Amino acid sequence: MVIKNSTILGAVIGFIVIGVIYTLNGSNTASITKNENAGEGPVIDSSMVDVIIPDLSKIEKSGEDKFLKYCAACHGIGGAGQKGVAPPLIHKIYEPSHHGDIAFYYAAERGVRSHHWPFGNMPPVTGIKKTEVQDIIVYIRAVQRANGIN
Ligand code: HEC
Repeated sequence: MVIKNSTILGAVIGFIVIGVIYTLNGSNTASITKNENAGEGPVIDSSMVDVIIPDLSKIEKSGEDKFLKYCAACHGIGGAGQKGVAPPLIHKIYEPSHHGDIAFYYAAERGVRSHHWPFGNMPPVTGIKKTEVQDIIVYIRAVQRANGIN
């Protein structure tokens, strides 16, 4: 019984590891493919930057819905920014190594004191759940990658 349980556990862990590797490889391949075909995606005109929206996975789509609900009024459709309102999040400044995911959680929870742009402070986003911010981050990172921001 003990041996059987550990065998099952080993198999489960093995599947998870394979699944994670498969998922990571899959998303890399997808984003590389997207970059190669970048011109084919719908290009959203915005007053600040042009953003190519890649094909979105289910979770990325769910992040897009939440972004539209909570963030797009200021940051623009696709995070392309809006002149006079808020910056584009599809921007080198917000690449993961410069503004890690924690910056997004803090921004939503506490707001942002204006420091990079002349648009004033970002107020805290009321009523948003941490899991919703998480989905938004997954979405923003996918769109960033599709636009060469890694
Ligand atoms: C009322 C307008 C408004 C809304 C709504 C808004 N933002 Fe912002 N946000 C701003 C402005 C303005 C800035 C720029 C601050 C600055 O000058 O650096 C900003 C900056 C940010 C930053 C950069 C933070 C940093 O550390 O520099 C992130 C990340 C961000 N917003 C994410 C979001 C997300 C995610 C949402 C939705 C959940 C959202 N924002 C909703 C106006 C807004």
